[in-house]
Amino acid sequence: MTYNEPWSKRHKKVTGGLPYSLSNSFAEPISNEELISLSLQRGDQDIVDQFHKHSLEYTPNGGSLDLLEEIAKLYGAKITAENIIVFAGGQVGLQTAALALLDQNSHSIVFTPGYQSVLKAPDHAGSTLTEVPLYPENNWQIDPQKVADAMQENTKYMAINEPYNPAGTLMKPEAQQQLKEIAEKNDIYVMSDEIYRLLEHDQKDRLPAMADLYHKGISCGGLSKPWGGCGITIGWLAFQDLSIKQKIIDIQYFGTACPSRASEIQAIMALRASDIIIEKNIKIIKHNVALLDDFVEKYSNFFEWVRPNAGAIAFMKFKGPMNSDELGEILAKSGISIKPAYVFADDSDYFEDYFRIGYGEKIMPRALQALIDFVEEHREQWAVKMNEGCK
Ligand SMILES: Cc1ncc(COP(=O)(O)O)c(C=O)c1O
Repeated sequence: MTYNEPWSKRHKKVTGGLPYSLSNSFAEPISNEELISLSLQRGDQDIVDQFHKHSLEYTPNGGSLDLLEEIAKLYGAKITAENIIVFAGGQVGLQTAALALLDQNSHSIVFTPGYQSVLKAPDHAGSTLTEVPLYPENNWQIDPQKVADAMQENTKYMAINEPYNPAGTLMKPEAQQQLKEIAEKNDIYVMSDEIYRLLEHDQKDRLPAMADLYHKGISCGGLSKPWGGCGITIGWLAFQDLSIKQKIIDIQYFGTACPSRASEIQAIMALRASDIIIEKNIKIIKHNVALLDDFVEKYSNFFEWVRPNAGAIAFMKFKGPMNSDELGEILAKSGISIKPAYVFADDSDYFEDYFRIGYGEKIMPRALQALIDFVEEHREQWAVKMNEGCK
């Protein structure tokens, strides 16, 4: 097993500690104080008492029943507490499932550009990968025919990520249905990273969870994004097929002995306040997307995007005289952080002008203003270079 070098390593070096972050992908971070206050507001004194008094003995492998039951409420009738495993974050679930279900004799289908943990987990498990490229010309949509064409005799796994990081786009229900049918026909698992699910800008666009839809579907979720609870470090896998459960728990056993009970209780508090927290976060997101709409319109000579409709991220194209890697470097010198194309693939040549921009936080308008000031300062110089034919 050979692990890949994290694509975000260089980005972190370039942007560590910068004051204007447009790099993050989560909704407004929540505090423990808010979780407690929301619990008390709904009369849930018991969970607050548990938070203060809980024992620090090991919790059960795979998560405590009260948390599993709370997570199960996010899914349909086929997903009960028994169909869920809790991890110290969604990423751990992605890696653990791949290690449990794949080996060097297997083949997996993944999509690029993408979030490295989704894309590379099967590779870490020794599986051979087919990377299916997604294109802005196709609104970053998965083409089911390309997936059908990529199937091999030993294909065991497909890893998708919808809503999609880095573009904040969402597949159509028809495409999801087609993918499910292709997976069913080939009898493969679909690992569906749904970490941004519930952050659809319009609820009508929400897709069914893959765990509800398909008997070999695995939905990966977590508190990090919609609830703004990255520091809770609780994620999960939900699946109908109980034959995989013990295999995954056996691999998990060698990593984390158990989730922290304090984290589990914070997760329960967040989940029980989902409606309030997520409604508040969608308001912030919509406000910030409207600011980005104005930005893209005003500076359309330099920027364009496939307008996002889910999550707190978008993949923007810089049309000025440098690629996104170089843009990221000079923005960093002005205290602004973006995520250049290289953070989302080994080879980012065909989308090298793209960078990810995050808009989930209340303070985002401050960072956007810093970007606007930067653009104002450089626009004439960029226009001259573009007229001279420089990229
Ligand atoms: C697509 C995707 N999956 C998983 C994660 C990680 O989730 P967690 O914080 O629960 O490990 C991220 C975080 O950026 C992500 O973008």
